[in-house]
Amino acid sequence: MCGIIGAISQRNVVKTLINGLYRLEYRGYDSVGLAIVDENSKLFRVREVGKTIDLDKKIQHLAVFGKIGIAHTRWATHGKLSERNAHPHVSDYISIVHNGTIENYRELKTWLRKKKYLFFSETDSEVIAHLIHWETQRNKNLLRAVQKVVLMLHGNYSIIAMDSRDPKRLVSARTFNPLIIGLGKGENFLASDQVALSSIVERFLHLKKNEIAEVSKNDVKILSFDGRLIERRDVSSQIYQEIPTKGLYRYYMEKEIYEQPEIIEELIKDRFDSKNNIFFSDLEDSRIEEIFIKMESIQIVACGTSYNAGMVGKYWFESFTDISCNVEIASEYCCRNHVISRNSLLITLSQSGETADTISALNLSKNLKNYLASLAICNVSNSYLVRESDFSIMTKAGMEISVASSKSFTAQLTTLLLLVAYIRNLRKKSKDSFQKDLFLSLKKLPKYIEKLLLNHQEKMNFLISDLFDKRNVLILGRGDHFPIALEGALKLKEIAYIHAEANYAGELKHGPLALVDKKIPIIIIAPYNGILSKIRLNIEEIRSRRGMLYVITDERVSIQEDDQTKIISLFDIEEIISPIFYAVPFQILAYNIALFKNIDMDHPRNLAKSVTVE
Ligand code: G6P
Repeated sequence: MCGIIGAISQRNVVKTLINGLYRLEYRGYDSVGLAIVDENSKLFRVREVGKTIDLDKKIQHLAVFGKIGIAHTRWATHGKLSERNAHPHVSDYISIVHNGTIENYRELKTWLRKKKYLFFSETDSEVIAHLIHWETQRNKNLLRAVQKVVLMLHGNYSIIAMDSRDPKRLVSARTFNPLIIGLGKGENFLASDQVALSSIVERFLHLKKNEIAEVSKNDVKILSFDGRLIERRDVSSQIYQEIPTKGLYRYYMEKEIYEQPEIIEELIKDRFDSKNNIFFSDLEDSRIEEIFIKMESIQIVACGTSYNAGMVGKYWFESFTDISCNVEIASEYCCRNHVISRNSLLITLSQSGETADTISALNLSKNLKNYLASLAICNVSNSYLVRESDFSIMTKAGMEISVASSKSFTAQLTTLLLLVAYIRNLRKKSKDSFQKDLFLSLKKLPKYIEKLLLNHQEKMNFLISDLFDKRNVLILGRGDHFPIALEGALKLKEIAYIHAEANYAGELKHGPLALVDKKIPIIIIAPYNGILSKIRLNIEEIRSRRGMLYVITDERVSIQEDDQTKIISLFDIEEIISPIFYAVPFQILAYNIALFKNIDMDHPRNLAKSVTVE
């Protein structure tokens, strides 16, 4: 999703900005642009619908040079995908890049039109450029102009503004969307994501909500929207976030799927001590133990794949601990009234830690009574959710590039399961062997996933070829495997462009049975567990209506095949780790269909990795 960068230096910044754009690519985008002020104070802007590499080529050809500039990756929210809607937006000598949305842009546009401003794009962002221009005409100072303009804008945003008449400073402001300042020697940078800057600087300043920064080569001044000067200590981070390469894989998605066994193996090594007891080095603060013991309920909030992981977490918390657990989609959670039960813990679950809706939910929770604390379970250690939550646990899946999550899902599940076992142990008066048994089960998981990845052609090829030209698919599951049906359906939608719907198998007779015919494939997840007999009933309901059925199951389960019923028999997986394992066949399925259809699965149409707008 949109990413912004700014640079001011004593050397040419074009390459730095372009490199930053490359590093922001993983967030998902559909167009890119850059504006530079050259030695003669001339503003030069170039935009491109497509990839950073196209912009890069264009710029190399034009031999652009400048010591101050701004750049942007756009993921369209207002206005179609076109060069004129791409950022930076310009109003005479002012240029801006913007991440977020301006809710009152229509009113502002009407007002600006009356002042004779012309609009060249359909975006909400262009009003910012004109408003700053209007204000600089009155007080000639970019910082003061931005200070005035932020009071007129309603919405969630981060912006960087540049004035070509005064190429000695960049001015940036943010409400909700993240913005980080990278401190160099005789040069400073701004970006929405540390990833964009981690190859050039090691010291950072986080701009907080409702703050403005004036950034020159040698200085950074931070002010609150109401004009107070703010002292902020820089933080140093030497984590050079190398953008991983695809290696021999065709897509990041493929690589990330294949990385899963190793990630789980590492998680086990990291989270169990030599006596096979679970420990979380990230939770060293002694207060959290008290909270885990005192809490009476958990509220998980998340979006997309992370929500599906949270759903599995709910089953686990309620099966293996005495704590009740609710899960809610973050965009719903942040827009309604709440009754929070006594002594609750809020858990936000997120790969990126930057998802706008999940951040809103965390912010909202801070004003709600009865939450003891907030805990972020996240894959990015310097993300907003990690910084702003009371406690955090890392999922340690490594940087995930492909827009659709795979390895971060199984890492979230593994982490949740470990957390459940850890909390269970803390709360139990008489300790049991749960953690040690879990250790033994989890130890087997990487091997099973590896085996499936090696043998998937033999096991799954007929399913892949049967499904690849279908428009609709139903996926059914029960219990802790229902969220796996949800995740499977999400993968098919996201990267294979198949309309897939997940249903509770037990709900078939309340609606979905009406869809059963010879044309719509139905996949049912039938692991060997306590509710298999109920799943068998659902299988019969479909068979007796001659539905086109695929049963993904375990070698211990015997189900008769016929011309309408096909069996994908996987390995004997222990019940406790089974949801983690069953996520993988769906990743393989969606990935292979996308491959057949020649879909750029790392960048599926209209989707972004990091959804930073609500
Ligand atoms: C986007 C991504 C999904 C992800 C979701 C939540 O929609 O495309 O893959 O599951 O955001 O993201 P988060 O970073 O909060 O897990």
